[in-house]
Amino acid sequence: MGRMTVKKLLALKGKRRITAVTAYDYTSALLAEAVGFDVVLVGDSAAMVIHGYESTLPIGMEEMLIHARVVARVVKGPLVVADMPFLSYQTSEREAIKNAGTFMKLGVSAVKVEGGREVADLIGKMVSYGIPVMGHIGMNPQKFNIYGGFKLQGRDKDELLKDALSLQDAGVFSIVLEKVPAESAKYVSERLRIPTIGIGAGPYTDGQILVFHDILGLIPDMNLKFVRRYLNGYDLFKQALENFKRDILEGNFPSPEESYE
Ligand code: KIV
Repeated sequence: MGRMTVKKLLALKGKRRITAVTAYDYTSALLAEAVGFDVVLVGDSAAMVIHGYESTLPIGMEEMLIHARVVARVVKGPLVVADMPFLSYQTSEREAIKNAGTFMKLGVSAVKVEGGREVADLIGKMVSYGIPVMGHIGMNPQKFNIYGGFKLQGRDKDELLKDALSLQDAGVFSIVLEKVPAESAKYVSERLRIPTIGIGAGPYTDGQILVFHDILGLIPDMNLKFVRRYLNGYDLFKQALENFKRDILEGNFPSPEESYE
């Protein structure tokens, strides 16, 4: 099938569901590539699941470039999208183009920008300079302090649609709908030419994405209603490390087979 492109992704709307996952490092990129998702997002959720912050706000371009560089190098099939972190695009058009261009030079195929009507003009400029952009509306984690937490947004489906249409007109090739009522996501998805990718947005979007660490249960005490946890990774990894520690203490590691003559 060859490498996923923005054009091929657009063509999937109405044909089959789009599959997406986040990745941040060699291991997650290798797994995302092996499974063959359509989209691999280098999410600014890295701030939370890799760096251990409470929100996505603290992560900057410096860290995101490190994550994007490795994912772009390892992932060959899926479309690699890099998240523009907080304050990498809000301060000026010049700063936004420069930062997005820096991601593109690493080999990612597109960037993702949070926001609706307020970023539509900016996105239009980015697209006109050859930078494919994925939109992100509904609950925008970078507005966490305005909401007072990661709260459900998009109850007013016509307001959500206005944001979605402004992004579509600006030239985005798809839109992430995060933590909105399923009915709002359906209403918007049915009225767009471009695909929507949902996270906590119910079953009617054109595709679905979840955070790598949430799927694998790698973060303890993370119980989000919209996450389906396919593995209890934290407990399994912890058990394996406990076994290793016990074997060292009991003199059972390394064995003769694990040692050189
Ligand atoms: O940063 C991220 O992982 C995201 C997804 C939740 C869509 O933006």
